[in-house]
Amino acid sequence: MSRNNLYRLLKHLTFGKTCKYFDMLSRIKNNKILIVKKDGKIKEIKKVKGLTIKFLGQNSVVKIHEPYRFINCYFEVGDDNIIEIKQTNFYIKDLIIPARMSRYSKLLIDSDCSVEGAKIWLHDEPERIVKIGKDCMLSFDITIWPSDGHAIIDDKGDAINKPKNIMIGNHVWVGTQCLILKGANIPDGSILGARTLYTSASNPKNSKKPYIFCGQPAKVLKSGNFIWDRNNTYYFNKKDYK
Ligand SMILES: CC(C)(COP(=O)(O)OP(=O)(O)OC[C@H]1O[C@@H](n2cnc3c(N)ncnc32)[C@H](O)[C@@H]1OP(=O)(O)O)[C@@H](O)C(=O)NCCC(=O)NCCS
Repeated sequence: MSRNNLYRLLKHLTFGKTCKYFDMLSRIKNNKILIVKKDGKIKEIKKVKGLTIKFLGQNSVVKIHEPYRFINCYFEVGDDNIIEIKQTNFYIKDLIIPARMSRYSKLLIDSDCSVEGAKIWLHDEPERIVKIGKDCMLSFDITIWPSDGHAIIDDKGDAINKPKNIMIGNHVWVGTQCLILKGANIPDGSILGARTLYTSASNPKNSKKPYIFCGQPAKVLKSGNFIWDRNNTYYFNKKDYK
């Protein structure tokens, strides 16, 4: 290829890329960050302290209730998604929500939750719902994934590994490095021990009592007849110490 033709080709490619970039930019519209004030009034704002929100599509809403305390959080949001985080006095740290290609998906984190580090992948499939109940405590390095990200196809050409929503009940403690997969439905008051792999098969038949789940895949270590508390054991068993 002559130098002139090469120059023309490069110019064409660069121009094409620039057009694509502007096309992409023009698609990004009608997104909102809403703050729900303590008196219930709603205000639209541009930035949230401690949280970077990158809108990559249209008509999405990120709704945050006061008070909130984000540290180093990052959300990527596609089309028509709703992310709502209710009021909490605890820190929400290192919460990453990749929802770039997601459409019509919803994430609700109910009131009084704390997060030390979690990645909630709404990224892959449309119409996903992830709900985290009130007063949940999410430790470090947690992954929540309501779809597999890639299809497994049977001989009829249908994908067999369908995505399923994830429901985490109220007052659930998720230990460090847990992986919660599609279809998880974790009963109120439960604990997931460190490094638990919780799948839909781990859902107990009786979801009216709390459980301690442990292992890969999760098995029941204990059920009913306990509650967990954010305080450490010293707070309750002081008599055992000098
Ligand atoms: C689940 C947990 C609360 C249970 O504590 P515990 O009631 O004192 O349980 P024990 O240490 O007596 O262990 C009981 C049994 O469960 C097993 N076990 C405990 N934690 C386990 C885990 N995470 N995965 C697999 N097995 C586990 C033990 O090996 C033991 O097995 P055995 O009966 O065969 O001997 C605790 O082990 C745990 O994982 N804590 C989470 C810590 C964490 O992530 N903290 C983050 C702070 S936010």
